[in-house]
Amino acid sequence: MFEMKTNHEIILETNLPYPLFKRGKVRDVYDLGETLLLASTDRISAFDVNLPTGIPRKGEALNNLSVYWLKRTKKIFPNHYLEQIDDRTMKVQKVERIDIEWVTRGYLYGSAWREYKKGRRTISGVNLPEGLQLAEELPEMILTPTTKTDAGHDVEITKAQAINNKLVNAEEWRELEEATFKLFEFYNKEADSKDIIIPDFKLEYGRYNNNLIQIDEPPTHDSARFWAKQYYKVGEQQEGHALDKEFLREYLKRISFTGEGKPPTLPSLVVEEISKRCTGSYQVLIGKRKIEDLALRSVNELMEELTR
Ligand SMILES: Nc1ncnc2c1ncn2[C@@H]1O[C@H](COP(=O)(O)OP(=O)(O)OP(=O)(O)O)[C@@H](O)[C@H]1O
Ligand SMILES: [Mg+2]
Repeated sequence: MFEMKTNHEIILETNLPYPLFKRGKVRDVYDLGETLLLASTDRISAFDVNLPTGIPRKGEALNNLSVYWLKRTKKIFPNHYLEQIDDRTMKVQKVERIDIEWVTRGYLYGSAWREYKKGRRTISGVNLPEGLQLAEELPEMILTPTTKTDAGHDVEITKAQAINNKLVNAEEWRELEEATFKLFEFYNKEADSKDIIIPDFKLEYGRYNNNLIQIDEPPTHDSARFWAKQYYKVGEQQEGHALDKEFLREYLKRISFTGEGKPPTLPSLVVEEISKRCTGSYQVLIGKRKIEDLALRSVNELMEELTR
């Protein structure tokens, strides 16, 4: 039924012989009736837009890491995973999606840091103490969810707003908050044993036969941050040794692209660095490689080389 892929050509779009359920930014989703096929392509997005350049081995790395996590966490909370079809494709349970991105943070970074720096002390209804630094561990993990929209930017949402807007009911919120924290603990315990910190990530859930189940992707290069424990320094940018999309975002900022206008083609040196982070995050988290063996280059190092 399916062709096993043995080469590593870049695949920007799949065309499997099934009705298309949707093309997401990264995954092509096919409708098999009760179930879905999630085919992870080599597409990459930043600032909510897709770039024209594909990343070699990205699809397979993300798919394989997702399979790894989903199999291991089934006992903690039920999820949609049914079967791995090939390197980039898995079969999952089709569910009614809950339109919330369950963003969870154990460290102050990214958009939460930018808001904090501006003086905000409440994020998604959660109070933050004074005096925190960039990349500092938070006193407790916090949920800072956003809406999940098919077009446009996702916006922050509080528990009260989510319930008032009927995205979830109060009981569902309670269950999903608890599930997200439990999963966060598990992911971080596993990552810690591979010398990785997961400072934040986002999850999605849906409803299936009156039950809540986790869908979409667990922490990957695209949906989480992965920091190397041995290089972690509070008060600093962690991008130089991170196995996540921060490298790409930072590169794009340097060339003045933040989502407006025509998305740029990525130079091959940049593609290579992103590819290393995609395959590296999978290999390091499953214990196959050490982060120091990946020979990552930071955006600073790369910009020097590109402008030489
Ligand atoms: N089990 C599932 N049932 C229904 N929908 C799912 C399931 N798992 C994932 N999805 C949805 O399939 C899509 C996966 O595609 P991808 O991750 O590329 O999307 P995305 O970039 O997050 O896209 P978008 O925001 O455009 O929907 C997402 O919209 C996700 O919410
Ligand atoms: Mg997605």
